[in-house]
Amino acid sequence: MLDQINEAKNFINKLTSNKEIHTVIILGSGMSGFEKNYEIMHQVSYSDIPNFLQPSIEGHSGTLSIVEIEGKYTAILSGRAHYYEGYPIQELVIPVRTFSSLGAKNLILTNAAGGISLDYNPGDIVSITDHINLTGDNPLIGKNLDDFGPRFPDMSEVYSKQFLQIAESISKNHFEFKTGIYAWFTGPTYETPAEVNFAKRIGADLVGMSTVPEAIVAKHAGMNVSAFSLVTNLAAGISDSPLDHNEVIEIAELSKVKLQTFMKEFLSQINISNN
Ligand code: HPA
Repeated sequence: MLDQINEAKNFINKLTSNKEIHTVIILGSGMSGFEKNYEIMHQVSYSDIPNFLQPSIEGHSGTLSIVEIEGKYTAILSGRAHYYEGYPIQELVIPVRTFSSLGAKNLILTNAAGGISLDYNPGDIVSITDHINLTGDNPLIGKNLDDFGPRFPDMSEVYSKQFLQIAESISKNHFEFKTGIYAWFTGPTYETPAEVNFAKRIGADLVGMSTVPEAIVAKHAGMNVSAFSLVTNLAAGISDSPLDHNEVIEIAELSKVKLQTFMKEFLSQINISNN
């Protein structure tokens, strides 16, 4: 695994002439094209980066763009491979570990999710405060990579409270600040109403099929993590209507401007706040 990470690291170091990358953002549905808000210094397809997986689903282009935000290099990863695509979980997290080993301090994640909380409506942006891993898998299973972090990492504050405060202050200018706990299911099936009810009873506000593996390895490596869900639908059983991936894409498209406006301000603020 370390060899695979180092190969990717060497490739990116060549691309950027060893420039330090400060912040990494991994974009889910509703964020495609976000990099076009910036002047792109370097751009490459995941398929050209050793050991980066190419996503296979619509809306996930699989492109790395390096941009400058508030004078700091920021890696925008447009699209992600998912667990349900059948990849070993340790391979899904190679991009996060690569950027961590390149010195990146901050990881920002976005995703589309189903809303459980009755406070949410489709189109809402929710700041994730914690997660519940319901898959039974974990990207840190296997030999510990001591260079990254300890064998038994603390997970009591995966999502940075400082960054949550920044998200709160920015969202106030645009929309009601909402927070929630994200339950990770493997997919690709949407959840059954009974599974959503179970997730609700154990404290989840959102259900989704991504984000948690990346957040775990980032926290293991000591990065500051923030994650945001775009609620594209009410979770199964919360609303009576059957779930449809096209609906997810449609709501994500409709919410694009709102999410991207928020994210631009958020990235500026965290790059200013973090030395
Ligand atoms: N469940 C899981 N993942 C999702 C959902 C959902 O309802 N909506 C968007 N991604």
